[in-house]
Amino acid sequence: MKSDVPVYHEPVMLREVLDALAVRPGGTYIDCTVGGGGHACGILERSAPDGILIGLDRDPDAMAAAAKRLKTFGKRVTLVQADFRDLLRILGGLGIGNADGVLYDLGVSSHQFDDPERGFTYREDAPLDMRMDPGSDITAADLVNTLSQDELARIIRQYGEERWAGRIAAFIVEERRRRPIRTTGDLVETIKRAVPARARRQGPHPARRTFQALRIAVNAELEALASSLRQAVHILKPGGRICVIAYHSLEDRIVKETFREMAASCTCPPGLPVCRCGREPLLRALTSRPQYPSPGEVAANPRSRSARLRAAEKLAPVLKRKEGE
Ligand SMILES: C[S@@+](CC[C@H](N)C(=O)[O-])C[C@H]1O[C@@H](n2cnc3c(N)ncnc32)[C@H](O)[C@@H]1O
Repeated sequence: MKSDVPVYHEPVMLREVLDALAVRPGGTYIDCTVGGGGHACGILERSAPDGILIGLDRDPDAMAAAAKRLKTFGKRVTLVQADFRDLLRILGGLGIGNADGVLYDLGVSSHQFDDPERGFTYREDAPLDMRMDPGSDITAADLVNTLSQDELARIIRQYGEERWAGRIAAFIVEERRRRPIRTTGDLVETIKRAVPARARRQGPHPARRTFQALRIAVNAELEALASSLRQAVHILKPGGRICVIAYHSLEDRIVKETFREMAASCTCPPGLPVCRCGREPLLRALTSRPQYPSPGEVAANPRSRSARLRAAEKLAPVLKRKEGE
């Protein structure tokens, strides 16, 4: 029988994630975006009886949901409310020096999106908030009411890839001269006035791209990603895996470029026992192109449709690799 209790978040590409991480008993796994604990639960089941999982999330609601869902795994789980930009510092504090697998499932959880009070959705009227960590300082309302028109246009164009960014920014500035834009409803109405009627009738909801852009800006979603991925690779054991699910092209580009940079080839002359150029590759990509959810998954969980998964394996240092030859 189907439960009426809403699921906090349906994990996306769960089997693909567990395979990409090559989860095994006794391993140490870090879930940098634990959310409602869906992927974490799969990792703990597959790494039974003694695998351990460290789960991070910057949203206290996610901490509470994951704690509830993962309770049965007892001491095998440690949850920390934190931003993954501080990954190494947090793991150091826990005495974790290396890991077999690290997962990032980026973006917003269904819970964040579905709870109107969090201000992520354009479908309901609520305070214009959008903070993943409600303890952080800047809300979406702060941005739309204080940034210059040029800065708003840049954010909406760059993070939302919105064709009408310039017009939307101009309408926002015009509207806030009359009164502050305080709610999601105020913003949706302003965007609808800015987007020409013909464009409004085609494609997705006219506010979708602007909401995505503001969410990315409020939570500085792209700023710490590359640095955090490098920290994750740093703590992986040789043979350990990193797996990232991105939900839009800007995130995915950062993942692709960071992996590519870390997989770049050594330019030392052949025969040297250790790398001297400092470009010794740290990673081997496991996915040359991103993997996508199956049509069946997209039908069952439409929110998975924009997911793209990339994975890579940490390489042993060249000297060790040569010894193993
Ligand atoms: C798509 S959900 C993860 C869902 C999770 N995999 C599950 O199965 O329930 C993304 C989560 O990442 C968290 N998040 C996003 N950016 C973060 C960051 N920089 N540091 C920590 N958590 C972050 C969000 O708060 C959200 O809960």
